[in-house]
Amino acid sequence: MDEGLDQTVPKTIGQCRIEKKIGEGGMGSVYLGRHKTLDIPRAIKLLPKHIDLKDPEYSQRFFREARIAARLRHPNMVQVHECGAEEGYYYLIMDYVEGPTCRELVEREGRLDWHKAVDITRQIAEGLKYAASKGIIHRDVTPGNIIIDSDGTARITDLGLAKETTAEATGLTRSGASLGTPYYMSPEQINSARDVDFRTDIYSLGATMYHMVCGTVPYTGTTFEVMTKQVREPLPSPQSHVPDLPAALADILRKMMAKSPENRYDSYDSLIEDLGNVTEGRSVSAEGFRDQSMVHAQPGPAQVPIMPPGALDETHIANPPRRGDKRVLIAVICVAALLALALILKFTVL
Ligand SMILES: Nc1ncnc2c1ncn2[C@@H]1O[C@H](COP(=O)(O)OP(=O)(O)OP(=O)(O)O)[C@@H](O)[C@H]1O
Ligand SMILES: [Mg+2]
Repeated sequence: MDEGLDQTVPKTIGQCRIEKKIGEGGMGSVYLGRHKTLDIPRAIKLLPKHIDLKDPEYSQRFFREARIAARLRHPNMVQVHECGAEEGYYYLIMDYVEGPTCRELVEREGRLDWHKAVDITRQIAEGLKYAASKGIIHRDVTPGNIIIDSDGTARITDLGLAKETTAEATGLTRSGASLGTPYYMSPEQINSARDVDFRTDIYSLGATMYHMVCGTVPYTGTTFEVMTKQVREPLPSPQSHVPDLPAALADILRKMMAKSPENRYDSYDSLIEDLGNVTEGRSVSAEGFRDQSMVHAQPGPAQVPIMPPGALDETHIANPPRRGDKRVLIAVICVAALLALALILKFTVL
């Protein structure tokens, strides 16, 4: 039963036996498990072992967010059933959804038919709308966090997982911090805004839909380049990738991904309505949308990504790296930061 299981991974956790590893992401590893008494499959997420179980700040937030997530019930969400700290791990036990994830779909099939991408986006917007009504923001909406059930239902996962998305955390100053993928990150997340609201999820959902319909992420380059482009560069026209994409859908994408949250959809209802309208061939409220925040964007500290230029990997990334690359990326960034610091110190002393 423990085929492919690392010996350091516990055999049971919470109410579940761990059977095999099914994935790995920025916030730990995911295992297929089985509830010991109910005999039903579960997905078990073990957070990295190095997160200190005794860190009161992390612990409080982990349990607070997991408890809130466990109370959320929606068909377009992956339900959290249990959380805890055991065997040196924080863990979450959730519904097991066989998949694929949207990331796997795009990797396998290339860009999706736009009707299908819009349908997935609309379903996820329903789940996020419900979460937002309970005061929960996801903060890491990506194709990897959307799983499609066997009946075609799109479900968002990792809601309520305590994430480090603040400037301090993504600046890698804290141990155990996770550097989220920059491809779907909103400008305000990159700019260190502490008070992100539901509109940050609308941006990331827009970047996710862009990836699904265009077959590529909106911005490519090194991590630093991608972050800079998210903040400053106008959205590359979706029609440059898919010439026959309906203009109304390109307008919806532009509105979801407006640089300034004030210019995005101001409610999930208005977004969901537009997604329904474009599917039915009706006009959309985003028609002709041009991002006014770009007109006023001035280069300045407020629009500069939080990562210092010295702390960059210069590997050109044409498409999102697999999540296993994250640790390498973090190591490269740390080494580059140390080198930059050494240079600064040298010149200061001279
Ligand atoms: N509830 C689940 N049911 C079935 N498989 C899951 C579930 N949650 C995650 N997975 C699988 O595990 C993989 C890794 O998930 P994980 O959340 O660790 O990383 P990710 O979603 O790729 O990135 P992120 O760190 O941004 O969440 C997913 O890509 C998916 O294949
Ligand atoms: Mg995930």
